[in-house]
Amino acid sequence: MSIAIKRVIAAAGLVAVWSCTLTAGAAEAILEGDRSVPVEARKGMVVTSHYLATDEALRVLEAGGNAIDAAVTAAFALAVTQPRSGNIGGGGFMLVSSEERGDVTAIDYREKAPAAASRDMYLDENGEVVKERSRFSHKAAGVPGTVAGLALALEKYGSITLAQALAPAIKLAEEGFVIPPRFAQGIESQAERLKQFESSRKVFFKADGSLYQPGERFVQKDLAATLRRIAEQGVQGFYEGETADLIVAEMQRGGGLITHEDLKNYQPAIRKPVHGNYRGYDIYSMSPPSSGGAHIVEILNILEGYPIADSGLNSAQTIHLMSEAMKRAYADRSEYLGDTDFVDVPLTGLTSKEYAASLREQIDPEQATPSVEIKPGNPAPYESNETTHFSIVDRYGNAVSNTYTINFSYGSHIVVDGAGFLLNNEMDDFSAKPGVPNAYGLIGGEANKIEPNKRMLSSMSPTIVKKDGKNYIVTGSPGGSRIITTTLQVLMNVIDHNLNIQAAVNAPRIHHQWLPDEIRIEQGISPDTIRLLEGMGHSVVQKSAMGAIQSIMVGEDGVFYGGADPRRSTSSAKGY
Ligand code: DON
Repeated sequence: MSIAIKRVIAAAGLVAVWSCTLTAGAAEAILEGDRSVPVEARKGMVVTSHYLATDEALRVLEAGGNAIDAAVTAAFALAVTQPRSGNIGGGGFMLVSSEERGDVTAIDYREKAPAAASRDMYLDENGEVVKERSRFSHKAAGVPGTVAGLALALEKYGSITLAQALAPAIKLAEEGFVIPPRFAQGIESQAERLKQFESSRKVFFKADGSLYQPGERFVQKDLAATLRRIAEQGVQGFYEGETADLIVAEMQRGGGLITHEDLKNYQPAIRKPVHGNYRGYDIYSMSPPSSGGAHIVEILNILEGYPIADSGLNSAQTIHLMSEAMKRAYADRSEYLGDTDFVDVPLTGLTSKEYAASLREQIDPEQATPSVEIKPGNPAPYESNETTHFSIVDRYGNAVSNTYTINFSYGSHIVVDGAGFLLNNEMDDFSAKPGVPNAYGLIGGEANKIEPNKRMLSSMSPTIVKKDGKNYIVTGSPGGSRIITTTLQVLMNVIDHNLNIQAAVNAPRIHHQWLPDEIRIEQGISPDTIRLLEGMGHSVVQKSAMGAIQSIMVGEDGVFYGGADPRRSTSSAKGY
């Protein structure tokens, strides 16, 4: 077995070329990619965070399936090949655009709080938040939505059966796959916590407790059996019967709250995506219970009033204006956003051009406004009434943008014993106590308090941009609170800065989320730009890379351009 990994980062991180070759005995997994130019194809394009999922989804397209068939196939394949975020124990959001019907629909399969959940369930006797409980305990898990959501997508828009979409995942789980370096590194980095749970130790470590190595084969028999029950019995094969029994038994062993009733009652929802317009492009992104769409549109509306193309990509002036817009949007998030099945969210107000103009008036073009001076704004009142992303387009005019998650890498770190999949820790996305930040430093209030059967607020932002009624950009990312700003920047990099989709994905990112009051940057922003920003009163902090945005652009000539994110070594874009 030989492993060669080569990474060349040129031009201060602007251009990245990765090539990774794994050889294990006979011809095994081979991945070679040049991430400095987009992949081109005419009939279909798949961009995911794992090359094995990309391959399976592409095969579906090649066999005549549509983007929704390929998406569901990819999602189940990711649940096997990338269990740190691909999942059946979590939830997410899918946007489906059909040029033929002329609509964009959102499928909300976000987890829900169990019926026994309560507002103060993560507080100790002194009223302090016990983080361990909302993040790494059986009580951290929301009722999973992924299986129901994917089944609904297929039933509504697909052309293959659930069993067909599951077949590649079952094979990958049953027969195993060759472990890439990233997979082995991920488990190693979380080994201590994963080993705390016997059920997780059994899945992620060898019988003697040692680590799996890159190039070895990873087999998941329990997961294969769980997936087979879904293939044979449909959603009931997960929410009822043996799998439900295993989930409930796991809950009872660890003091969790999910019951048979919770599982049986889980229903995904069809929602209307948030719609905005930026410089003539139609932006569709996820509506509540995600905050993503509302704030991408809010930030774009603010920035539309500035000549961003002239101020230039990642110049101090552009980063200043972006940060000021981001701060104000994240302040609004903390106050107004929550599950619209439970609270009124002033969506029309937040996404209106007038409200953006009023926020723009508060922005000093030369000087940072300290976050302490920024409070949630006053949009027009309520109208009464390791996550992973993939993007797929087909030759029938369909586009799918899907982000799903178990929250942290490996979620709660708890495998359902006997069922072979990890439980999410999505309950940490609720506001456990007003003013106390969650794991991503996000502050929330009343609108996002814990209530039985409520969906916790998300930042996931699967997004589709249309131009003159045609699909143009399909994109989205993991990254917790950074998802919104990561997605925003790919849109701006294409629309304002005229970058091709791969360059738009590669470009160094910045992020401001109101609190903490700092601009977080990736490597690649020049030191003199940082000095200029500091001179305007900003605090600038360089931290690790943000997001893993898997994107497609459709050219005017009808060519599909795929841009996989080099920030994940297994990311891959392939078309045919
Ligand atoms: O829904 C959310 O906003 C978070 N649970 C997403 C978590 C995430 O992106 C982690 N991945 N990096």
